Amino acid sequence: MTTPVLYLIACAAGPTQYIDDGVRAAQADGWDVCLILTPSAANWWEPRMQELVELTGYPVRSRYKLPWEKDVLPRADAMLVAPMSCTTLNKWGAGISDTVAIGIPSEAVHMGVPVVTMPYFNQAQGAQPAVARSIAALREQGVLVLDGPDGYASHPPKQGNPKAFPWGKALAGMRGLASASPQDSLRVSTITEGRPPDHG
Ligand SMILES: Cc1cc2nc3c(=O)[nH]c(=O)nc-3n(C[C@H](O)[C@H](O)[C@H](O)COP(=O)(O)O)c2cc1C
Repeated sequence: MTTPVLYLIACAAGPTQYIDDGVRAAQADGWDVCLILTPSAANWWEPRMQELVELTGYPVRSRYKLPWEKDVLPRADAMLVAPMSCTTLNKWGAGISDTVAIGIPSEAVHMGVPVVTMPYFNQAQGAQPAVARSIAALREQGVLVLDGPDGYASHPPKQGNPKAFPWGKALAGMRGLASASPQDSLRVSTITEGRPPDHG
């Protein structure tokens, strides 16, 4: 049996400083992990990117490819967007996919791929009215959003502990959603990203 492929998609939020912890946790949970970063998150890892390439065994994607470039990652069986920043949440909720990190899961969820997300931002960021609207918009589309007690509950400003991001809860949510998904919907997830003219 082949190992199922998980796209782990991380934003420039605190726990991404330790995204290697998330990769290892997902690998230990039985996933073949491909890592996708937002451009801002990729900047954080730029000096150590090779470590992530070696850890996953795949190129780390952070930008849309050019129209003539081929896919470098295997097809995804499931996607976990974590940690999700406030900015990515609100862009995704508004239907703006100006990063490949949003473009891939925003299409995938409408192609039968199980998509889970767990946010990480503080209570002041979460107080913006757009946040509740964006979470509702993602749930309406079938994304499993793990906020509050079932996932990550926002911390008071300046009191976050990014190293303690609860990867176990994210992976448990992912496992539950993936096992509930019809088998037929798995492995049909050729993301149109990169197939011109859909995306460049
Ligand atoms: C050191 C640092 C830590 C940050 N931590 C967070 C965070 O935990 N959550 C969050 O939503 N934004 C955080 N931000 C702000 C985001 O990086 C910023 O909104 C960025 O535009 C997010 O872009 P992305 O979602 O495309 O990665 C942080 C910024 C810096 C410089």
